[in-house]
Amino acid sequence: MNEPTLAGAERRYPHETGAKPVISVRGLRVRYGDREVLDGVDLDIYRGETMVILGASGCGKSTLLRHLEGLEKPEAGSICIHGTDIVTASRKEMERVRRLLGVSFQSAAMFNSMTVGDNVALPLREHTDLAESTIRLITRMKLQQVGLSGVENLYPTELSGGMRKRASLARALAMDPEILLFDEPSAGLDPIIAAGIDRLILRLKDAFKMTLIVVTHELQSAFLIADRMCMLDQAKILAVGTVKQILANPHPRIQQFVQRIADDAAPGSQSYVTGFE
Ligand SMILES: Nc1ncnc2c1ncn2[C@@H]1O[C@H](COP(=O)(O)OP(=O)(O)O)[C@@H](O)[C@H]1O
Ligand SMILES: [Mg+2]
Repeated sequence: MNEPTLAGAERRYPHETGAKPVISVRGLRVRYGDREVLDGVDLDIYRGETMVILGASGCGKSTLLRHLEGLEKPEAGSICIHGTDIVTASRKEMERVRRLLGVSFQSAAMFNSMTVGDNVALPLREHTDLAESTIRLITRMKLQQVGLSGVENLYPTELSGGMRKRASLARALAMDPEILLFDEPSAGLDPIIAAGIDRLILRLKDAFKMTLIVVTHELQSAFLIADRMCMLDQAKILAVGTVKQILANPHPRIQQFVQRIADDAAPGSQSYVTGFE
């Protein structure tokens, strides 16, 4: 009997399954003072996909993530997560949606006065009535999942940068989130430790079929982990697509970014060197 096989077939991405998006952003506008940071952002994210948000420093990537988490209210637009618009949701609805989200941001640092174990256990203590023994067990499991064992009783300052990053990820996973938001997971880590974080992200994606939204400007990492990527530039999303599609996108800003061409060396710009001649 002929078994159906995927060999030779093009890989099917989560956004191609015909399912409804888990997160749907429409017309998102964010302004700080007179600076328009996001100007009409539309983005759909599908269950089980890893969406990487690319863009130059200061282009609004973290701002977009903070709005997805519901930490700030935009000037206009909607952000539907599982059909609930978190821009207009009541506090109660908002809390329900937040339970689906795990967040690992640079700002969500570990508390240095608490042990690593207590840091990871914090969301469980805050949001559940689980018995202490169960909380300890889950904490140990979550630390194991990120490749950290036996560090529960250490303090965050006793861990290396890469280990702290893993521990904060364990905390983000504590409540078994369905969607994980990740801001610059490998920022400040050396390339080998950063590669370890990428592998960990790939494992989470495969083992738990999580929906991951990852902000990064590390291209190598983006190409490795992304199902799709979007590129933010000057307050707008320039393009959304698979790695292949983005690499082939002829938009000059996208090509400049993926080929790592400096602004002053980009076609049409005045080079510093010629400027001096
Ligand atoms: N809370 C805020 N208040 C005022 N300006 C902000 C705030 N957050 C971000 N910005 C500004 O918005 C722009 C985008 O910031 P951010 O989203 O952090 O960029 P990225 O993460 O892409 O580097 C920057 O110019 C930043 O200074
Ligand atoms: Mg940022």
